[in-house]
Amino acid sequence: MNTTMSLENLKHFPVMLEKILSITTPQHGGTYIDCTFGAGGYSEALLEFSNTDVIAFDRDKSTNIYANKILKKYKKRFKFYNKKFSEINTIQEISNPIKCIILDLGYSMIQMKDLSRGFSFNSTGSLDMRMGLNTLSAKEIINQLDEKKIELIFKYLGEEKNYKKIVYQISNLRKKKIINTEDLVELINKVKKKRYNRINEATKCFQALRIVVNNEISELIYGLIEATKKLKPGGMLLVITFHSIEDKIVKYFFRAYSEVSKSYSRYLPELKVKDQRLFDCPQRKFIKASEKELSLNLSSRSAKLRYGFRNKNNFFFPEDFIKKFKFYLDLEKISL
Ligand SMILES: C[S@@+](CC[C@H](N)C(=O)[O-])C[C@H]1O[C@@H](n2cnc3c(N)ncnc32)[C@H](O)[C@@H]1O
Repeated sequence: MNTTMSLENLKHFPVMLEKILSITTPQHGGTYIDCTFGAGGYSEALLEFSNTDVIAFDRDKSTNIYANKILKKYKKRFKFYNKKFSEINTIQEISNPIKCIILDLGYSMIQMKDLSRGFSFNSTGSLDMRMGLNTLSAKEIINQLDEKKIELIFKYLGEEKNYKKIVYQISNLRKKKIINTEDLVELINKVKKKRYNRINEATKCFQALRIVVNNEISELIYGLIEATKKLKPGGMLLVITFHSIEDKIVKYFFRAYSEVSKSYSRYLPELKVKDQRLFDCPQRKFIKASEKELSLNLSSRSAKLRYGFRNKNNFFFPEDFIKKFKFYLDLEKISL
């Protein structure tokens, strides 16, 4: 496929598609796992190369329609599972050595634009934000969860400075009515004295809520571990993140368990023996979208791509990784 030609023609923009194709070399064939299928941008582009197979996951049932279209075209080389990627190891049929596992994190523009799902500030329905296969919705969290816990969620998962004032207003309002999307946006904008021409002031709280509703940090941490288990030596793990917490986790994971970690930082765990490395990472720095892509798709601006190759060492459970981010894992544990 000539991706330079095709990029302009795509209505849905798979982020950094050209870079992904150049790093993962589908022209040489191989089996790929697309952990975050979405509208199938990566899966379809990989399948356009004749010797590839793609196994795809998405937790959102509404992506089945895109998966079915691809299935019709590539029946023998494509499989789709409506599952969370942290469950990748429950699929026993994956027998070929995997060439590459891809995670393109977060939500899709399709999910964002469906106003009934509550991801957008302009949503018309109730506060929902569930991508699929969830337990709680944002509505339950905002209207029922202990206020102190909501404060922590806004503070640490949204990095929202005004978290106390916002939660104070939520606490007052929810005594009178069930808070919906409109109420929440209005309330946050009032607390933060929204100025025109700025990004919506509710962005940070919405991010925090979406993360916690979908257990995105736990999914990422256990997804990275399960993907590592699945890969044979030489197999690649490639991750695209969109916000600082995700990138902090992915950066730590690759640096702590790869060759480059040795001299990198005194904050990383001491790897006592060389066998405690799981990856070889060709480059330390993340890769970002090209200027050309940014001019076509502004939402690529916060994307960061990192990747590594599984080395020959036996898998071991990365305890330090779990310990390091335990605080976030605990934040996502919600009981009402
Ligand atoms: C950024 S979009 C992916 C877009 C895709 N690369 C494309 O080209 O269309 C992220 C997708 O991953 C899905 N997703 C997010 N977290 C997931 C998880 N833990 N397990 C499975 N799917 C997940 C979302 O439902 C969404 O459809």
